[in-house]
Amino acid sequence: MAFQIGARWDDGLGRTYMELSNPMQATQLYEHQKAFWVTRNQGGDGKISAEMEAEIIADQLSEYSGPGFETTKPILDRAVQLTQDRGQTGLSIVEIGAANGGTVRHFEKFNPEVDLGFYGMEALPLLAEDGAKKYPQHRFQAGTAEDFVELTTEDLGRERFDMFLASGVLCMLLPELAFMVLRKASEISDMIVCRDYLANKGGEISRKRPVMFELVPGHTHYLFANPYELMLRSLGFSRIEYIFEESADPRIRGTASFLALRSR
Ligand SMILES: C[S@@+](CC[C@H](N)C(=O)[O-])C[C@H]1O[C@@H](n2cnc3c(N)ncnc32)[C@H](O)[C@@H]1O
Repeated sequence: MAFQIGARWDDGLGRTYMELSNPMQATQLYEHQKAFWVTRNQGGDGKISAEMEAEIIADQLSEYSGPGFETTKPILDRAVQLTQDRGQTGLSIVEIGAANGGTVRHFEKFNPEVDLGFYGMEALPLLAEDGAKKYPQHRFQAGTAEDFVELTTEDLGRERFDMFLASGVLCMLLPELAFMVLRKASEISDMIVCRDYLANKGGEISRKRPVMFELVPGHTHYLFANPYELMLRSLGFSRIEYIFEESADPRIRGTASFLALRSR
């Protein structure tokens, strides 16, 4: 696809962020990539082979720490601290792009004292099913961002959660949809924790149009750098703490983990 590009911004290390000026192209790109995440490109009968299934499951994150996630563990620690300071022993989390339960493994490993209540949504049904099998005490549901924004209190099993979590997921979404996800998150939680690409967090490259970039040059997969800070502030989240990734590794360059809080 020959993209129609508006503003461009170079990060000086070889990555170019591009404003997509044709909304139809943006939608096509999003839908095409979503199909990948929902099916992992299994055409024909749509079935993923047993070998591929095993490979996808084996590939999952063990927890939110380690290479590429150096910023995420301290942000999650901070979130736990904040809830413990309120005298809570439990923590309820709703997550999108939850895969097969990296968050559950994270809390089992690093915060076993926390009484975790977990609802995870994952685009690839195979992973949501695997999470449900591995962690029957928690809830896993197959679904995309569009499905998440439609969830009812009945679906979620509770009205409010202590935390909404999205790691490496909002960058898969067009800005309008990322905003709808954050708005839904703001209806059910006062704490939002994300790991994402933040080059356009304040709308520095574009406030209105999607800004896309290739994860590594030559990749055919594009990600979106959405104006999260503008979105969160408009939803009443006035306290936002960031931990920026220091590494120049091309895949994680430009990422940060952040925690956004709204006081009532
Ligand atoms: C790079 S993985 C991140 C997984 C995990 N949260 C992590 O941090 O390692 C991207 C995740 O985004 C999810 N995803 C991709 N497109 C999506 C969409 N349109 N709606 C909801 N989730 C989507 C995928 O299912 C996958 O779990």
